[in-house]
Amino acid sequence: MLRRLHPEQPDSFAFTPANQAWAEAQISKYPEGRQASAIIPLLWRAQEQEGWLTRPAIEHVAEMLDMAYIRALEVASFYFMFQLQPVGSIAHIQICGTTSCMICGAEDLVAVCKDKIAPRAHEVSADGKFSWEEVECLGSCANAPMAQIGKDYYEDLTADKLRDLLDALARGEVPTPGPQNGRFASEPKSGITSLTDYVNAQIKLNASAALATDIGDTVKRIDGTEVPLNTPWLGKTDAPAKSKTAPAETEETTGTQPEALAAPREGGADDLKQISGIGPKLEKLCNSLGFYHFDQIANWTPEEVAWVDQNLKGFKGRVTRDDWVSQAKVLASGGETDFAARVKKGSVYDN
Ligand code: FES
Repeated sequence: MLRRLHPEQPDSFAFTPANQAWAEAQISKYPEGRQASAIIPLLWRAQEQEGWLTRPAIEHVAEMLDMAYIRALEVASFYFMFQLQPVGSIAHIQICGTTSCMICGAEDLVAVCKDKIAPRAHEVSADGKFSWEEVECLGSCANAPMAQIGKDYYEDLTADKLRDLLDALARGEVPTPGPQNGRFASEPKSGITSLTDYVNAQIKLNASAALATDIGDTVKRIDGTEVPLNTPWLGKTDAPAKSKTAPAETEETTGTQPEALAAPREGGADDLKQISGIGPKLEKLCNSLGFYHFDQIANWTPEEVAWVDQNLKGFKGRVTRDDWVSQAKVLASGGETDFAARVKKGSVYDN
């Protein structure tokens, strides 16, 4: 299936403060230089916040991780868990259409979706509440046919059962996930043959269904009100820590502020993105601080590097981490680094 950005996109994206703190804590899990490893959780959080993954959200995450936009888009467009178009406000229904489910009635479930939601996959229903798609095997083949709705699996479905589930969700109810035909889990249809006393006497729902029932919601999106991510590696255990790259508002500034320019010199600003480690967002940030030219950066003293490192809001420490000064010296003297050559060829950034 072709996975493209939706033609209609919002103008901008920003994480909520709670999600921003969570995202920065995620980034802090990875060693310096490997922050891009946080791409999946950050994209997922952005999707949870907005319902679907917009282009501004993908670009925002790329900038947070100092990645080229295309690299983030590659991830977003590769994994089917990322929705690149608007979805229903209550739930996006994913019907498994692979072999076991198809044999056991997946086509009937798709017909229900076409009838009750929208004629085509990825269309939002007229009331805006639902959308649907057919997906590949979700690993619940012994309970075919099945659908993933929100965070949970609804298994052993029939067309009528799916209709009932959609009606219940539309009314704001929380249907119990798991097998919908009375099975406990994936035991034989004729009944459990082992652990019968234990299951019958003590457990009514399998672990997944019980957890969803305990939470009391199967379709709620993560909104930042959940238990915060602990970051004991940063010496904090009770709340998301600020990223190592984010300066605290009250932090005392050290170092010496380098001479800044009010505007680029005649001839225009240098393309600072030719310095490995400076992406589009960091370039804008540098410009806003009055740094437009390679020779400015090339001449920074250690004290000036310390000042800039501390004042790159959201990117603290990047000057030292990526050794901007050495790179800038090469570029300011008319030389070229491998990275700069790639930028000039257009193989790193879109623009
Ligand atoms: Fe549907 Fe595996 S074939 S879950």
